[in-house]
Amino acid sequence: MSGSTTPASSTVPAPLSAELRAQFDALRAQYPAEMKTSLVLPLLHCLQAARGHVTEADAATVADYIGMPTMPVVEALHWYTMFYKQPVGRHVVKVCRNIACALRGSETLIGHVQKTLGIAPGETTADGRFTLLTVECLASCGTAPAMQINDTYHESLDAAKVDAILRSLP
Ligand code: FES
Repeated sequence: MSGSTTPASSTVPAPLSAELRAQFDALRAQYPAEMKTSLVLPLLHCLQAARGHVTEADAATVADYIGMPTMPVVEALHWYTMFYKQPVGRHVVKVCRNIACALRGSETLIGHVQKTLGIAPGETTADGRFTLLTVECLASCGTAPAMQINDTYHESLDAAKVDAILRSLP
């Protein structure tokens, strides 16, 4: 028997609060009934905005709400890297490591951020302040090296600029 199957308990829909249900209903009103599967990503984003991360149980909640099989929603959850599958810090620091940024020193910059925060990519500081991630192209290649912290872009970076940015965050 394969050990790679998803545990049944992880795909049991999590209950929706009245507030989240109202947000789901508002999003559903924006889509024609025949396009209901287009709600998958907006609803997952909605849950992440409310909870900070999204789980397979959340994917099951979305599937249940839409009235579609759970597995495609679980697959979407795991496909898109903008969904956090586990709790993250208050500031999610995403440093680009793709070619334009690599040519302009992102590897050194990532090492600098690791040393400054005391964590490796994929980890969160003990105080829950920062999560560090490396990402593939932030579409800011012309101003490489670039990083994104939550919804804010920071471009043409060097170690001094990174230090000033990190120090400025609560
Ligand atoms: S390669 Fe870094 S933003 Fe495109």
